[in-house]
Amino acid sequence: METELIRLENLVKVYDTGALKVLGLNRINLSIHQGEFVAIMGHSGSGKSTLLNILGCLDHPSLGNYYLDGQNVSYLKPNELSRIRNQKIGFVFQSFNLISRMSILKNVEVPMIYAGKKAAERQIRAKSLLEMVGLGARIHHQPNELSGGQRQRVAIARALANNPPLLLADEPTGNLDSQASIEIMELFASLHSRGVTVVVVTHEDNIAAYTNRIIRFQDGQIRSDAQNPAPTPIGKNAGLKSRLS
Ligand SMILES: Nc1ncnc2c1ncn2[C@@H]1O[C@H](COP(=O)(O)OP(=O)(O)OP(=O)(O)O)[C@@H](O)[C@H]1O
Ligand SMILES: [Mg+2]
Repeated sequence: METELIRLENLVKVYDTGALKVLGLNRINLSIHQGEFVAIMGHSGSGKSTLLNILGCLDHPSLGNYYLDGQNVSYLKPNELSRIRNQKIGFVFQSFNLISRMSILKNVEVPMIYAGKKAAERQIRAKSLLEMVGLGARIHHQPNELSGGQRQRVAIARALANNPPLLLADEPTGNLDSQASIEIMELFASLHSRGVTVVVVTHEDNIAAYTNRIIRFQDGQIRSDAQNPAPTPIGKNAGLKSRLS
């Protein structure tokens, strides 16, 4: 029996903007097991980022419960949430969110600094993660010296720094051309094949096609939740191995 990594019970998120209350999520019940590769889809405003921010412990629900790896993390204090984020969650953003004027090696080290790892250990791990994403020859470059696809690969290496069980990505290919998007999805697929649980928000069917399960949101609710019987295999769209080597 697979272990449940994420469990949401009657989860509600209300944004209170003074006069107006906006319902971001409306009574979500959802379970994601360790090792799943999931796409979250839906129109703009349907609640995808709201969901991902709560899953990533970047925001609190208004009502209901979120269990991460068996622990109820719904209403923890900010410092407790930061610790859980640092240990259990890697988050990848559409806009990369790398620190400029810092080498990509240092960027990847940042989460390990917060985790209290020693400098030598941080460097070795950061270097090997950058090698894994095909940037071993570029470790002393700064983010602005890299392409969008390369920057996103740095962001993924950074997200994996503390070896988290859960990788969340909110439209990670939204700023990338189709070739770079394929490379990012092939990277997620290979991480999934190594046991990482991956949840990706996307608007694009060909991106969602890489995953094993597609959940569609509408007006803050789950409209459909289906297995993908034939995920796009790694290598089908060519390129990753040759482009990364
Ligand atoms: N900080 C906020 N304050 C007020 N309302 C918000 C806030 N963030 C999101 N919302 C509202 O919550 C609802 C869900 O927004 P969310 O950002 O989750 O949508 P989304 O599915 O990610 O959309 P997109 O595809 O455009 O990124 C929308 O009605 C949105 O306007
Ligand atoms: Mg969004």
